[in-house]
Amino acid sequence: MGQQDPHVEDKAVEDGCDVLLGCMSLTVDVTAPQCAQTKHYSILLSGEPFDPVPLLNSAVANIICQIVIGRRLDYRDPNFQRLLQNLTEMAYLEGSIWALLYEAFPDLMRRLPGPHNNIFSNLKSVETFIRREIEEHKLDLDPSNPRDYIDSFLAEENHNRGSEQGFEEANLVLCCLDLFLAGTETTSKTLQWGLIYLIKNPHIQDDVQAEIDRVIGQTRQPTMADRPNMSYTDAVIHEIQRMGNIVPLNGPRVAAKDTTLGSYFIPKGTSVMPNLTSVLFDKTEWETPDTFNPKHFLDAGGRFVRREAFAPFSAGKRACLGEGLARMELFLFFASLLQRFCFSTVDGVELRTEGITGATRTPYPFKIHAKAR
Ligand code: HEM
Repeated sequence: MGQQDPHVEDKAVEDGCDVLLGCMSLTVDVTAPQCAQTKHYSILLSGEPFDPVPLLNSAVANIICQIVIGRRLDYRDPNFQRLLQNLTEMAYLEGSIWALLYEAFPDLMRRLPGPHNNIFSNLKSVETFIRREIEEHKLDLDPSNPRDYIDSFLAEENHNRGSEQGFEEANLVLCCLDLFLAGTETTSKTLQWGLIYLIKNPHIQDDVQAEIDRVIGQTRQPTMADRPNMSYTDAVIHEIQRMGNIVPLNGPRVAAKDTTLGSYFIPKGTSVMPNLTSVLFDKTEWETPDTFNPKHFLDAGGRFVRREAFAPFSAGKRACLGEGLARMELFLFFASLLQRFCFSTVDGVELRTEGITGATRTPYPFKIHAKAR
């Protein structure tokens, strides 16, 4: 995965940022009719408030597309939009009461109509998209020159045929699905919470922009080399992740062996759902647990400090596989967006910070203004 190859990550992340920034830039030549995102340009140029979610979803998903299928998709491609819709609905339904009812009474729920059935139809639709990509990849596969994750997996499959290492097509489909599911909704929702918290705290937005102007300026794009010099922005992003709390109940796990954790004995085979919310809002760990406060991540001299209770990516061997990639995406997206735009909301509208809880915690629908700086 990209995490082992920083160049892949940088390329993918910068590609993704280009898409979003190109799309949001108010200074581009909007008369270019062939521009893939013309519709979005006109929304932004009209000065009307807009829903940022489709743009953020598309840009973030395109980073995973670049890694998995080796290219970005056009925002207007109906297959791409269907994929995004499937992923969003799955992320909601998988953590909803419908999934719980299905888990508890599978024989009954299988026979009943209801939204739980959409988990399976969405899954099928994403699977069809991935299988089509795999078939197309096979047509011109050059195992000595893999273009992306699918090529790399297929090349390994050729080497390891018959072995028990898991390099088989059914597993490839599920791995791609995992990357799309885990790598799209999470980052996009964190960016959505980021816009909400910065709009609600305009002085913090101003301070981030002041740091961007001082360290990066207005003439070049941010790069990862800037992050160590931008403690304040880094602290704000960490605080967005803490308050955003986008995976409140982590993923369900099963104890692989008898385990003692503190004073608890957890027998092998027990289902475990680590409650990340309890750590991110722990009153004994955070000075102001319920308030958006970037100082949680700054020392007295204004330098960035890590906090042990910062666990949005979970912990241990099965912690988020995409943490490195996600942290790059968040930094590059936020720095790039705030370098170019001031964000605000519709006059008189108070953005909500309570979320809709599914497998991830999603903001209620909201609209923003993006004003070029
Ligand atoms: C802000 C963004 C993200 C957050 C907060 C996040 C959080 C998490 C969490 C809490 C888990 C569960 C870990 C556990 O069960 O202990 C997880 C798993 C995972 N994440 Fe992320 N994630 C993010 C972005 C990404 C990205 C960009 C990718 C890239 C592809 C990714 C790939 C994965 C995968 C593959 C797993 C499953 C790991 C496994 O089953 O062992 N995540 N993530």
